[in-house]
Amino acid sequence: MAEPTVHLEVRDLVVQYGGITAVRDVSFHVGVGETVALIGANGAGKTSILRAITGLVPKASGALFLEGRPITLVPPHRLPSLGLVMVPEGRGVFARMTVRENLQLGAMHRRISASRITEDIEEQYERFPRLAERAHQLAGTLSGGEQQMLALSRALMAKPQLLLLDEPSMGLAPIMVEKVFDVIADIASRGVSVLLVEQNARLALELAQRGLVLESGTLTHDDTASALLQSPAVRAAYLGEAT
Ligand SMILES: Nc1ncnc2c1ncn2[C@@H]1O[C@H](COP(=O)(O)OP(=O)(O)O)[C@@H](O)[C@H]1O
Ligand SMILES: [Mg+2]
Repeated sequence: MAEPTVHLEVRDLVVQYGGITAVRDVSFHVGVGETVALIGANGAGKTSILRAITGLVPKASGALFLEGRPITLVPPHRLPSLGLVMVPEGRGVFARMTVRENLQLGAMHRRISASRITEDIEEQYERFPRLAERAHQLAGTLSGGEQQMLALSRALMAKPQLLLLDEPSMGLAPIMVEKVFDVIADIASRGVSVLLVEQNARLALELAQRGLVLESGTLTHDDTASALLQSPAVRAAYLGEAT
């Protein structure tokens, strides 16, 4: 059988909160090894899409496929063992646990020995020397940028094949934003598929191969990142440029 080229397919997704429709018939895919940026204004429904994919909010309707297999009804805690890991908005580190404990938790679903976990943590410390220095510090005492590094690092402990990232640059100083994007580029260059939700549309589209634009719960664009970077409508609305 040929290797699947579509990693994640989202088909006709609808998310509702009470009577309000936040995501309206959204369909798109992420190719194997591809980085796709999902951009849109605050409140457009980006987080709702990621949370619906990971089963954290109910899907009013729609279907999800991972490498062609239906995962619509797979519960959230089973997804890491299928290679799908999300770094949530606000990072989601355990503030009252140490850096090291957070990393250990990242590997929880993998059936590997304590020594293997230690090896993988060492690998993360090499990637993020800052986390090594702070290994025994409570995660809640880290700076925002360090917490984002920890969140990415913890996600990597799960050995993801598909990473969903929700606003990784939010609230970070420009120098940390650059670092976080370097890390994401490095992860992507190792073949991990990435769905990147970002308000920083320019950076996201410069990193991604393809981009999706969400407006009030509806996808308005699904195109190559370079086409979106050149689109007058996208430039005016999301890249801070006058037409
Ligand atoms: N738990 C919730 N209950 C009710 N409404 C919500 C909830 N979460 C999000 N919404 C609403 O759904 C819309 C989309 O929100 P969200 O997915 O967080 O957008 P984004 O991530 O693009 O900023 C917004 O109008 C928001 O107020
Ligand atoms: Mg959001």
